[in-house]
Amino acid sequence: MHLRHLSVTDFRSYPSAELPLAPGVTTLVGLNGQGKTNLVEAAGYLATLGSHRVAADAPLVRAGAQQAIVRGVVIRDGHETLIELEINTGRASGRNRARLNHSPASRPREVLGTLRTVLFAPEDLGLVKGDPSERRRFLDELLVARQPRWAGVRSEYDKVLRQRNALLKSAAPVLRRGVRHTHRSSTSLSTGAVDKDVDATDSALHTLDVWNSYLAKVGAQLLYARLRLMHDLAPYLTAAYDEVSATQSDARIAYKSSLREETSAAIAAGAVPEMQELHDELLASLDAVRVNEIERGISLVGPHRDDGCSPWVSCRPRVTRATARPGPLRWACGWRHTSSCGTILVMTRC
Ligand SMILES: Nc1ncnc2c1ncn2[C@@H]1O[C@H](COP(=O)(O)OP(=O)(O)O)[C@@H](O)[C@H]1O
Ligand SMILES: [Mg+2]
Repeated sequence: MHLRHLSVTDFRSYPSAELPLAPGVTTLVGLNGQGKTNLVEAAGYLATLGSHRVAADAPLVRAGAQQAIVRGVVIRDGHETLIELEINTGRASGRNRARLNHSPASRPREVLGTLRTVLFAPEDLGLVKGDPSERRRFLDELLVARQPRWAGVRSEYDKVLRQRNALLKSAAPVLRRGVRHTHRSSTSLSTGAVDKDVDATDSALHTLDVWNSYLAKVGAQLLYARLRLMHDLAPYLTAAYDEVSATQSDARIAYKSSLREETSAAIAAGAVPEMQELHDELLASLDAVRVNEIERGISLVGPHRDDGCSPWVSCRPRVTRATARPGPLRWACGWRHTSSCGTILVMTRC
């Protein structure tokens, strides 16, 4: 697979640009701020529908414009596919739109998987130094790059989470009263008021249970996929580290889940439970934090709260007297394509 042509209109600093690309290495040379990374970002956007530099689309549209267009011609197995993306930030232009070979896609997500890119940029240090959200994003983007259908699961999970959080906020007063009633008697209220209170609480708790079951169902799928991905990556990490390290070491990645302690410890040690097990464990973990969630008004369990263990990639040299020093070494990692299907890990000490 390769990107044969990239063209942009009103993207970042470019009113318009056409960039023919040949297979192999292309080097963009220019002064600082001239727009090299903007082009890399545009190519990445064609593949992921997102930027590696910013979370929202608005900064991608050239200052003063309402809409940016990114086009790419992708060659794969001898076939050409034209991807066209409209990034709309103006009110009049509506949502983002996508076309594949001139046919409108029902949603932009349909183009995922057409072009696959791997980006290694200074921003990747965020993987080690940044928030857990950076590591979650990295894992989820890699999932989608390998199998585009995960984009649907990811967005379904976000939807369930938004709705569940909205319930925890909007029903907070009744839910909290319900929690407190279970701890102390409500003799100060008249019987009628208590009945009404109990009804409202029961109904909110029932709705919360419904959202728990959705969260467990979709969350288990996402969690399972991430764990399998980590499992698949692990041997490459060890091999790549051994290639660049002078000492024998034990480089590993680990996943820190928000599930109950026992399962979380097993997962951190590398276990990949079955999806049904993860589903049941998510439900049980949600039950365990119910009072806390109701008090705080946010969802405390699920893939959105997980992290790669800190440090996410730890390289622990086998300690000898000569090399003994406190704490693990930390490394940033990224991926680079070596062929149409292979990848190698590029590691940089940070
Ligand atoms: N939305 C935008 N509208 C206009 N110019 C922008 C926009 N976003 C970034 N730029 C400009 O793009 C330039 C940075 O481009 P970049 O690709 O990061 O440079 P470099 O060649 O150093 O990699 C800066 O001059 C910045 O002002
Ligand atoms: Mg740059």
